[in-house]
Amino acid sequence: MRTPDAAGAPPGEPLYLTTPLFYVNAEPHLGHFYVTLVGDVLARFWRARGRRVFTLTGTDEHGDKIAQAAAAAGVPPQAHADRVSALFRSTWEEAGLRYDHFIRTTDAYHVRFVQRILTQVHAQGDIYFGSYRGLYCYGCERFYQERELVDGVCPDHRVAPTEIAEENYFFRMGAYQARLRETLEARPDLIVPDGYRREVLALLREPIGDLCISRPKNRLAWGIEVPFDDRYVTYVWFDALLNYVSALEHRGLPELWPAAQHLIGKDILKAHAIFWPTMLMAAGLPLYRRLCVHGHWQMQTGKMSKSLGNVVRPLAMKARYGMDAFRYYLLRDMAFGQDAEFSEAALVTRLNADLANGLGNLASRVLAMQQRYFAGALQPRAPEPADEALAAAFALARREVEAHIAELAFHRALEALWRALDQANKYVVETAPFTLAKDPARRPRVGAILHELCEALRVTSQLLEPFMPETAARIVTLLGLPAARLGELDLAWGKAFPAGHHTAAPEPLFPRVDAVPE
Ligand code: MSP
Repeated sequence: MRTPDAAGAPPGEPLYLTTPLFYVNAEPHLGHFYVTLVGDVLARFWRARGRRVFTLTGTDEHGDKIAQAAAAAGVPPQAHADRVSALFRSTWEEAGLRYDHFIRTTDAYHVRFVQRILTQVHAQGDIYFGSYRGLYCYGCERFYQERELVDGVCPDHRVAPTEIAEENYFFRMGAYQARLRETLEARPDLIVPDGYRREVLALLREPIGDLCISRPKNRLAWGIEVPFDDRYVTYVWFDALLNYVSALEHRGLPELWPAAQHLIGKDILKAHAIFWPTMLMAAGLPLYRRLCVHGHWQMQTGKMSKSLGNVVRPLAMKARYGMDAFRYYLLRDMAFGQDAEFSEAALVTRLNADLANGLGNLASRVLAMQQRYFAGALQPRAPEPADEALAAAFALARREVEAHIAELAFHRALEALWRALDQANKYVVETAPFTLAKDPARRPRVGAILHELCEALRVTSQLLEPFMPETAARIVTLLGLPAARLGELDLAWGKAFPAGHHTAAPEPLFPRVDAVPE
């Protein structure tokens, strides 16, 4: 295999980015939003650098959890799934999150695909019938081994699992354990950050056993029928994981497998790092390119849950602070891979300090001086050492942003860009164009300083685009540049603005927020 480049794939290979499929028992919240946001950022970033990218998201609609949620809502499971799946799509639309395909596990093509794989794996002897007794957590939709429980309860849902004894179909997962371990040892970049790969290797030191992949219809009828036994439906994880391949077949893009980079939260690591690779091995398909695992957003009041009334809704955040401020906060305050605490007070602090004061203030000062002194007309450059230092700071920021995104360190990328913005604000103070402007003889220098600052804002908008697309577009528009300039990453500093160019009058980019609403 060729060595992956900065995008985590061999040079020239397209990027196929996937989010998990969201269970339709809950409406879109912060957790769903975050992982989809990361996909959106990566897609925008790599596309701007000429990479072919395809992104997939969707909804996971079968299984006990969904059947129970539909029953509680008093509607048939399909109707319930239709409503919530549509809600995910409209929410992403309103939130400005883009994707290339939205899959639902109830889509007919997916159902057929799952049945085909089951038939194939059964025919080759990797699925057998047996009886089973085990401890099942409905929240996780999986059986637990005694040693995985903490004080007798599921560590994620903190409820005691239900003991279930029944006859079922089993996938010979254990038969692939050694091969999986060897693969993980040979490919240190298969699961990132590395701590999660080590966690999986630790799980693989104990026998993983086989995987129960059916549910008797008399207990659960809401699922994909097992093609060789109509008394059973397919276990929801065996069904859902196959979406990453069924969607490509449906879209006529089989060449994108195995370019997949799966973005997932740490709670579904085992399913993606053990169930899924062994399923792929049994199906005769190559392993995905990379698994990118993020931590969880914790609330100050504990885990986010409906009963605690602390669920963060993306569109409520948009209404309160603007989508880009919400995006910035999430990407700036979570180190990908680690947990982070969500707090609106911290969001407001970031908004006021980094966005309103840091970036917003710079843009409005520069554009206001452009208007006041030159009626918006951009003046010629006359580089002095301070100007060159400013250009160098932004060139460095670009290299740093690119290196950090390659490592999924979004927070570091933004930190690097803000170092350059701080330097730009210092440059304004040190070169003091507002003082120089009082002396008519220094007007050309004032114009040159403002030209440098317009370049700084242009480069900022380019580097910011994946993170804050609306803001980036607003900045280029205020600079009076066509949107296309946003994509011209290699445009040299000093070459962006044609002679006779005019910038627009300033508009506040981020209104300050004074208090956190109750
Ligand atoms: N349906 C499965 C995934 C199947 S993939 C073939 C599932 N769905 S989920 O809706 O429960 O969760 C989807 C994603 O949201 C997971 O990656 C999970 O980690 C993420 N989050 C849910 N709550 C979260 C936080 N509080 N913080 C960050 N992400 C979390 O699991």
